[in-house]
Amino acid sequence: MLDTRSGQAFVEFDRVQKSYDGENLVVKDLNLSIPKGEFLTMLGPSGSGKTTCLMMLAGFETATYGEIRLDGQEINNIPPHKRGIGMVFQNYALFPHMTVAENLAFPLEVRKMGKSERDEKIKRALDMVQMGAFGGRRPAQLSGGQQQRIALARALVFEPELVLMDEPLGALDKQLRESLQFEITNLAHELGITVVYVTHDQTEALTMSDRVAVFDDGRIQQLAPPDELYEQPQNSFVAQFIGENNTLAGKVTQLSGDRCVVQLDGTGEEIDAMPVNVNNVGDQTLVSIRPERVEFNPELGPDAHTLDAEVLEFIYMGDVFRTRLRVAGRDDFIAKTRNRADQHRFQKGDKVKIGWLPQDCRALDH
Ligand SMILES: Nc1ncnc2c1ncn2[C@@H]1O[C@H](COP(=O)(O)OP(=O)(O)OP(=O)(O)O)[C@@H](O)[C@H]1O
Ligand SMILES: [Mg+2]
Repeated sequence: MLDTRSGQAFVEFDRVQKSYDGENLVVKDLNLSIPKGEFLTMLGPSGSGKTTCLMMLAGFETATYGEIRLDGQEINNIPPHKRGIGMVFQNYALFPHMTVAENLAFPLEVRKMGKSERDEKIKRALDMVQMGAFGGRRPAQLSGGQQQRIALARALVFEPELVLMDEPLGALDKQLRESLQFEITNLAHELGITVVYVTHDQTEALTMSDRVAVFDDGRIQQLAPPDELYEQPQNSFVAQFIGENNTLAGKVTQLSGDRCVVQLDGTGEEIDAMPVNVNNVGDQTLVSIRPERVEFNPELGPDAHTLDAEVLEFIYMGDVFRTRLRVAGRDDFIAKTRNRADQHRFQKGDKVKIGWLPQDCRALDH
């Protein structure tokens, strides 16, 4: 983490709280430092406070408590149009009486840019969103997805240092969304733009971002690069929100250093895990295991625990096999194996042993 007082941070939320009604905090205690050039995504379920944070940074909402700084300057009292921030919101309205090209020219005219430079930048921005041929149309003559691409081009055309995007690709089809995800991240990195991006699509967050802030209930649950978020979730919420995850409930029966034994609810079987946020023998825990880390008939160390499992469903998915198992009294345990020539294909009803390396199984909060 960056030291918020070192002056390195470009965007800073410092103990920010927000209440709309004077009673309930929808943003509870937000501390977040974003260095220049970073692509940071706020990811979280509906109502977790993502848009509210973006609106405060943009200047359309004021923080109830705390400070927001941009390049070291407090901006709580600077109006939106003076913050020099590019914005794309899910339903960002284009100026309806202007053509596409005029919409894009607007932020450049405001910045007193000459016509030839303006035309060049407009062309580049339109090409970037594959809308080069649409400069003469009005917004009403475009589909929703096309309007959104124009909104994106308009936010980027003046090459702002900071761009805020709130679910900008939500309305687009999968193929266009994926190509724009790629374009946006490339362009942002190329131009050195700092991006604060909001989505509730975890794949989008993982593929686009330098770091992801996982929001829930007005708080950041974890702030980390995508691989760390996926491989080292710090709590049960993050483990379940990011990627596919198996969760088993139980109680810690042994604990020493970076190993613990958890006795599972239901069957009372024991498994090996890595203690993440359990502190004492007797603690209740939810253990988290990724489907691709589950091993069948594993050859683990001599004192390693294995579990009895029954195959309920074997699903051929081309590149991988998904096996749904009954484990510790539950019917929703998933194991994923790569489709290799020597990989055994199970039948419904097969009885198997499963296990994992203790470091792949995280004992989290209950
Ligand atoms: N203008 C407003 N007045 C009152 N309450 C609001 C207002 N805007 C948002 N809220 C409330 O604040 C909370 C956070 O809303 P916010 O829009 O920030 O969530 P979000 O994370 O962006 O959700 P989504 O993924 O659905 O867009 C919600 O409970 C919402 O009902
Ligand atoms: Mg929102």
